[in-house]
Amino acid sequence: MCGIVGAVAQRNITPILLEGLKRLEYRGYDSCGVALHVDGKLQRSRSTSRVTELQAQIDQSGLAGFTGIAHTRWATHGVPSSANAHPHFSRERIALVHNGIIENHEELRAELTAAGYVFESQTDTEVIAHLIDHLYQGDLFASVQQAVKRLSGAFAIAVFCRDEPHRVVGARLGSPLIVGVGQGENFLASDAMAIAGTTDQIIYLEEGDVVDLQLQKCWIVDSEGKPVTREVRTVQAHSGGAELGPYRHYMQKEIFEQPRAIADTLEGVANIMPELFGDKAYGIFKEIDSVLILACGTSYYAGLTAKYWIESIAKIPVNVEIASEYRYRDSVPNPKSLVVTISQSGETADTLAALKHARSLGMPHTLTVCNVSTSAMVRECELAYITHAGVEIGVASTKAFTTQLAALFLLALSLAQVKGLLSDEQEAEHIKAMRHLPVAISAVLALEPQIIAWAEQFASKENALFLGRGLHYPIALEGALKLKEISYIHAEAYPAGELKHGPLALVTKEMPVVTVAPNDTLIEKLKSNMQEVRARGGELYVFADADSRITASEGVHVIRLPEHYGLLSPILHTVPLQLLAYHTALARGTDVDKPRNLAKSVTVE
Ligand code: M6R
Repeated sequence: MCGIVGAVAQRNITPILLEGLKRLEYRGYDSCGVALHVDGKLQRSRSTSRVTELQAQIDQSGLAGFTGIAHTRWATHGVPSSANAHPHFSRERIALVHNGIIENHEELRAELTAAGYVFESQTDTEVIAHLIDHLYQGDLFASVQQAVKRLSGAFAIAVFCRDEPHRVVGARLGSPLIVGVGQGENFLASDAMAIAGTTDQIIYLEEGDVVDLQLQKCWIVDSEGKPVTREVRTVQAHSGGAELGPYRHYMQKEIFEQPRAIADTLEGVANIMPELFGDKAYGIFKEIDSVLILACGTSYYAGLTAKYWIESIAKIPVNVEIASEYRYRDSVPNPKSLVVTISQSGETADTLAALKHARSLGMPHTLTVCNVSTSAMVRECELAYITHAGVEIGVASTKAFTTQLAALFLLALSLAQVKGLLSDEQEAEHIKAMRHLPVAISAVLALEPQIIAWAEQFASKENALFLGRGLHYPIALEGALKLKEISYIHAEAYPAGELKHGPLALVTKEMPVVTVAPNDTLIEKLKSNMQEVRARGGELYVFADADSRITASEGVHVIRLPEHYGLLSPILHTVPLQLLAYHTALARGTDVDKPRNLAKSVTVE
């Protein structure tokens, strides 16, 4: 999704801005641009292509300067086009980039048009540039402070002015923005990763903050205009430009990194104890009587799996809510509920807003399972478990999901322990099984050649059904999401027992039905559901366990995973579904790592 980089320095900052944009590329974008202060004028270069094209354009034009801003845009208001790409100018005096959505843009547009401003784009962003210009009386910081008071919605902005050559002003509300503090130079970015290598001294701006950046100055005021001091942290942000190595795509690399990612996530976990989630966890776990999980997309499916684990192991009732729905519905808050957010990025706008909503309803206890230790989600929650998946670049989440599952399994065990429901013997068995996970996943990855053969058959299909039962129903949901997200095949998942209540009507010989069939207590029920599919001519593609009695026959294709892996089986059964989606997308020739219309980090509503 959109990304911001800005700088005020005493050297040419074009390479820093372009490098920053490259580091933000993985988040997904459809246009990009840079604006610089050059010889008393604003100059810009914009492109609807990749950042490398923008760089070529800039190399040719020789655009260079000491003060400037840059942006990757993921279209919300207005098509991806040069005119809609940021930076936006107002009267050749103000240059601005923006992440987020301005909800009152129509009203402001009408007002500014009446004041004589001419709009060149269809974006909501351009109104901010004109509004700041309209309010400008020689002090950019003052006009930005006044302008943001007029905006409703979510924003992170970076602005500079033709008449103040050594100044960049930033502001945030609802979208992340950080300051990078340098020696005689300062930076702004939507993510610390964008300026990794330039400075590791980072300030995380808080909601409503406005920052004045000059060469030797970083001055912050809060939403009420009061000067505030924000902590400067040393942040070793990872670069997003990880090497592909022998892999064709980041998604493939990330699927194959799962043994290592799980091992890193579980490293140091010799015993189950609530303190794995933070110093205050014991007291909080003791106090709570239910769990409310808030998440989106793949992370939501991790939450659904956790519900099965927590309810069966810790006997605590769990509600799992799609964050974008929860924040807008009337719900019945329980102050004794532990609110758990799950997020790879830790910046997903809907999940952050749902978390704040839960807190505003009087639920103080919050925990996050997150892959980014410096993210807003981690900073907002009382307790946290950081998954160590490493940077995930492919838009389709893979290793982030399985590491979330590992962390959530630990949460279920820790809650059970505090409630007196985990014996030492059970604890030792679970730890042993978790330690063996990397090896077990490697065995599943070795099935890739068989899965490629299936993918070739899937590539010509336009629809697919995914079935699972119990603990593996969320895994079927995740498998369907992976397939639709990157191959653009319409895929839906159902709990297998639900087939006869409707979806069976869709089953013909043209409909591949992927079945997640671990050898658990529901296997016989699942086999009956599979018969229902075969009786209608549906083709079954079954991921079974080595010890199950499911055999291949006409219309029934079977790939066997290792022996049934008990409660941790969902982690293993996820992997072949990821590979199936990946190879099907590859066979269809889609842009696997950057599927159309999607962004990696969804920082707008
Ligand atoms: O960063 P988050 O985990 O909060 O992101 C949530 C979803 O946007 C994300 O899982 C999305 O569904 C993935 N693209 C799925 O592969």
